[in-house]
Amino acid sequence: MERKAEIAHRCLLLDKSEIARGWHLFELEAPLLACAEPGQFVHLRTGCSSDPLLRRPISIHYADAAAGRIRLLVQVSGRGTALLARSSPGEELDLLGPFGRGFPFLDEAAPALFVAGGIGMAPLFFAAAQRQRAGLPFEFILGGRSSAFLPPEEYFLDHGFAPLTATEDGSRGLRGLATALLEKRLAEANRPGRIHACGPMPMLTRVVELARAAGVPLHLSLESRMACGVGACLGCAVPVKVQGNIEYRRVCRDGPVFDGEAVCIGN
Ligand SMILES: Cc1cc2nc3c(=O)[nH]c(=O)nc-3n(C[C@H](O)[C@H](O)[C@H](O)COP(=O)(O)OP(=O)(O)OC[C@H]3O[C@@H](n4cnc5c(N)ncnc54)[C@H](O)[C@@H]3O)c2cc1C
Ligand code: FES
Repeated sequence: MERKAEIAHRCLLLDKSEIARGWHLFELEAPLLACAEPGQFVHLRTGCSSDPLLRRPISIHYADAAAGRIRLLVQVSGRGTALLARSSPGEELDLLGPFGRGFPFLDEAAPALFVAGGIGMAPLFFAAAQRQRAGLPFEFILGGRSSAFLPPEEYFLDHGFAPLTATEDGSRGLRGLATALLEKRLAEANRPGRIHACGPMPMLTRVVELARAAGVPLHLSLESRMACGVGACLGCAVPVKVQGNIEYRRVCRDGPVFDGEAVCIGN
């Protein structure tokens, strides 16, 4: 996949809203980032000073190249994301990117299946929206703690699709985990051509087991703590299998999307 130019950007925050409990949607004027591919991310400064020093990686949740706008969907999970959630429209955010390698084969004709756990839906939504626009078949499985911690159904319907949902408390869709929906789906005769998944590690572990058992190609977007974000510090490295050997690959540069056969998850 050819890399687009990676640049520093000061982007005007046009709008910000809380679309689920603790999940903030940012709409930014970012013409040079709006050509990013689904699965790529930006590395952004969360405060207006050098504290916190390290930038935080956030997936591009949606890009509208014609309008020159991108969206980020940020779940408050610590100090940096809490600071970010306090920013207001009219402020400028400091972003680097787009970084990383996104989801492959998004333009193939075979049906795709997206499996998202919680905020893992952020990059997968962009991938699904791209297939929706291209008229290519796909299904979207979404799992979360509870309905209040997921965007409302209208959020997806506005982009022309309705995810199959599972919540742990049964407040939306199936009571249980996203992987229970996946297991049911893979038991059907007409299997998807490819699975793309992003979410917490226990979910990804089960997705790997199920996809491998069903013989369906899989791509995973992995998370890792990042420092430099540009491939220099090796702080984000994860083990992968290469021709029977274990080697390390950088999530920021070689990922965040990896082939499900190569990741060291499951057997
Ligand atoms: C490719 C990628 C895409 C992502 N996309 C999204 C997204 O779209 N939306 C979203 O909400 N989240 C996303 N995340 C997760 C998001 O980056 C983290 O939730 C965020 O960095 C947490 O920052 P914080 O300051 O709020 O949390 P904190 O836990 O307070 O701080 C996290 C930061 O602290 C430092 N740190 C803390 N502990 C360690 C440690 N043990 N080793 C090294 N450094 C440490 C690092 O700088 C780290 O980045 C993504 C992560 C990755 C890797
Ligand atoms: S964060 Fe430094 S190499 Fe990936």
